[in-house]
Amino acid sequence: MRVLVTGGAGYIGSVVTEELVRDGHEVVVYDSLYKGHRGAVVAGAQFVEADLLDGERLRRAFREGRTEAVIHMAADSLVGESVTNPAKYYRNNVVAGLALLDAMNECEVRRLVFSSTAATYGEPEKQPIEESDPTHPTNTYGQTKLAFEHALPWYEKAYGIRSVSLRYFNAAGATAHCGEMHNPESHLIPIILQAAMGTRDAVEIYGEDYPTRDGTCVRDYIHVVDLARAHILALDILDERSAIYNLGCGGDGYTVKEVIDAARVVTGCEIKVRVGARRAGDPAFLVASSARIKQELGWSPQFQDLSLIIESAWKWLQRHPQGYNE
Ligand SMILES: NC(=O)c1ccc[n+]([C@@H]2O[C@H](COP(=O)([O-])OP(=O)(O)OC[C@H]3O[C@@H](n4cnc5c(N)ncnc54)[C@H](O)[C@@H]3O)[C@@H](O)[C@H]2O)c1
Repeated sequence: MRVLVTGGAGYIGSVVTEELVRDGHEVVVYDSLYKGHRGAVVAGAQFVEADLLDGERLRRAFREGRTEAVIHMAADSLVGESVTNPAKYYRNNVVAGLALLDAMNECEVRRLVFSSTAATYGEPEKQPIEESDPTHPTNTYGQTKLAFEHALPWYEKAYGIRSVSLRYFNAAGATAHCGEMHNPESHLIPIILQAAMGTRDAVEIYGEDYPTRDGTCVRDYIHVVDLARAHILALDILDERSAIYNLGCGGDGYTVKEVIDAARVVTGCEIKVRVGARRAGDPAFLVASSARIKQELGWSPQFQDLSLIIESAWKWLQRHPQGYNE
């Protein structure tokens, strides 16, 4: 298939692109590089450096690439920033998203896989979270992703654009070429590994008085390759139907302390921690159920073991201590 990946120079998008190219798909990466890295764009993919809001460039990319499907990863995704600067999030996650849909419609591209988020659920009433659970986002990030999701059935009804929205929490891990390099870094595993490497003083734990097995928050981590495979698998159903799927590690998830302990074993480093106060709006448990996508699409994660996830990220960081070195 000829696939355009928005945000394909970012963390997850680069791995999606890598897997698509490996499978023999023709890929155009469409990324403004405002957060991504030129060095993350996988060899074998075409690269267009432009913003989603540049409708003319986007339509040209669709026409020149004879695009058949879009995997939409480009977004802003910092929870805290989304609350203090909602305008930025509505603009990039909703307005730019709708510009993408308009260009798809105009160029007759009718297949979309959307990288949504489990932040659409807000503070869940039960664990693990299922697709039928209520969506009450507690931050602008989750709200803007949900707003875009809500447009999708209407665009399908009127314009025939089918979509699969994938809702998940924490992508983690790396491949040999692609790894996680956000600035600022807000994700736990790279923060822990920076502390292991000595480029960060310590890992801050936000609260150890939660009603969990060791008092720290329980979260869900999925290897980025498993996430990428789910995005590619989702392309297969778009000739027939639209869907929403969760992706999660299921089971009991992992506490913050368990992740730190696993990283100590993998890296052989000490990893200092500092225990601080709880952050407002951090639920004790956030774990998504993958039962539906497993049953309906046969998705089966290959790297579920937390040590494997951390090990892949650690290897990547050691090979790329300065990130992509642009
Ligand atoms: N990282 C996670 O744990 C996680 C969890 C759930 C959902 N997601 C979603 O997955 C997607 C990718 O996340 P990531 O961690 O790889 O993010 P990232 O910041 O590494 O990548 C996003 C990419 O999109 C590009 N981009 C952003 N806005 C753009 C625009 N208007 N036009 C063109 N390019 C633009 C950036 O330059 C960047 O390369 C996002 O949609 C995010 O909401 C991520």
